[in-house]
Amino acid sequence: MTMKAVVFDAYGTLYDIQSVAAVTDKTFPGYGELITQVWRVKQLEYTWLRSLMRRYADFSVITRESLSYTLKILGLKCDVSIFEEIMDKYVHLDLYPDAKPALLSLKSYKRAILSNGSTEMLASLVRNTGLDTILDATISIDANRIFKPSPDAYSLIESRLGVRPSDVLFVSSNPWDAIGAKAVGLKVAWIERVTPEAMQKACERADLVAPLTMFRALRTQMDELGLEPDYKVNGLAALSDILPTNPEISSSVQV
Ligand code: LAC
Repeated sequence: MTMKAVVFDAYGTLYDIQSVAAVTDKTFPGYGELITQVWRVKQLEYTWLRSLMRRYADFSVITRESLSYTLKILGLKCDVSIFEEIMDKYVHLDLYPDAKPALLSLKSYKRAILSNGSTEMLASLVRNTGLDTILDATISIDANRIFKPSPDAYSLIESRLGVRPSDVLFVSSNPWDAIGAKAVGLKVAWIERVTPEAMQKACERADLVAPLTMFRALRTQMDELGLEPDYKVNGLAALSDILPTNPEISSSVQV
């Protein structure tokens, strides 16, 4: 079995969405981390709610509306320019340190992003962080107007890259995304960005961090949806253990 393409989720996998805390904490000291956690939970919830309601709005709208919701429930107010400054961080997110080296080392494969992000958001983000010169494609689910984990979102990989699902390694840190990809026949590597050991350590200070720990935990524990990813890795560097560096030479290797 030979892999022909490696396709990455964007937010939380290549990009550290918690890096928005630098901006939110500057604006609302002490609340930065809490805002990012609630914001992310609500942002994802809105993608699924809008999909079920058949009222698609692109991810920039959803990201904006979920930030607005988050500030309201926390009783926080800011003027428009500050709101825009927080939103702007979404197109300047920090790359995880292992992202660029991993992408560069996989140059024998087609490398792409498949993300819920809108075409415009992703184009800015990828350009601002220099991935535009590395990736073969940045695919937004916009084209089919339905969010992951709908099969119609993942089908864009085959139609855009011309590679069959079984020849694609899909990489995501989001458990629900890993399972969604697995359900449509992609090979899947789940990156466990936060290990059970780290979670346990955080829980030792339950009096201080319980709500934040729970928000994080909800995204880091594999979901109970009847499927398992093919691989579990603790970082993008470990993809080299799964994928031969030169697929032509190693085409007989079973992965
Ligand atoms: C993405 C989000 C959902 O699709 O992580 O990039």
